Formats: sequence, structure tokens, C-alpha cells
Amino acid sequence: MKIIATDRKGKIHEIDGNDGWTVMEALRDAGLPIAAECGGACACATCHVYVDGEWFEKLPKQRAEETDMLDMAVAAESNSRLSCQITCTPTLDGLKVTLAPE
Ligand code: FES
Repeated sequence: MKIIATDRKGKIHEIDGNDGWTVMEALRDAGLPIAAECGGACACATCHVYVDGEWFEKLPKQRAEETDMLDMAVAAESNSRLSCQITCTPTLDGLKVTLAPE
């Protein structure tokens, strides 16, 4: 699947997300500056992204752990998600995300 990711400078990147990877892994693999300090354990919120409106509704629901982490995240918005909690699948081809501030 393709992920359209906007970095913190507003530059748009089209990157590949292999099926089964998390979006965080795809962003990191593409060299985008995403800290992902806990390595995808839903324990740091440094993989925070904003999901473009139409896509936000298509994502699987948040687990309670993700909601709790986002409650503590800097600059959380109603379309915030943790990218380590989104799995790349063909149905998400074209997913649009924007990196949240560090
Ligand atoms: S990488 Fe730590 S919460 Fe996603």
C-alpha cells in the first residue's frame, strides 16, 4: 500500500507500507523523523500522526491503551492516532497522514 505522509516542514512523501507492517514502521523505514521510542508498544506516543479526515473513519477503532496514550500526547487532535497501532493493509492504500509535532 502507499502512504502519503506530510512531514513537519509540510513536504509530502509517498512511501510504501508493506502489508503487515505498522504505519510507524513504514514511516521510519522511509527515513521520516518519527521517534517511536517504545518501538511500537503503545507506550510513548512519539509516533503520533494526524490522519486525513476521510481516512480517519476507515481505520480500525482505537484500543483503550492507544486512547490513554493520546490523552497524554502533545498537541492531540480529534484525528490523532498512534501510527504504531495502525497496520498496513490493502484497504488502506493511499492513507494520508501528517506527522504531529515532537
Ligand atoms: S512507537 Fe511508542 S506509542 Fe507508537
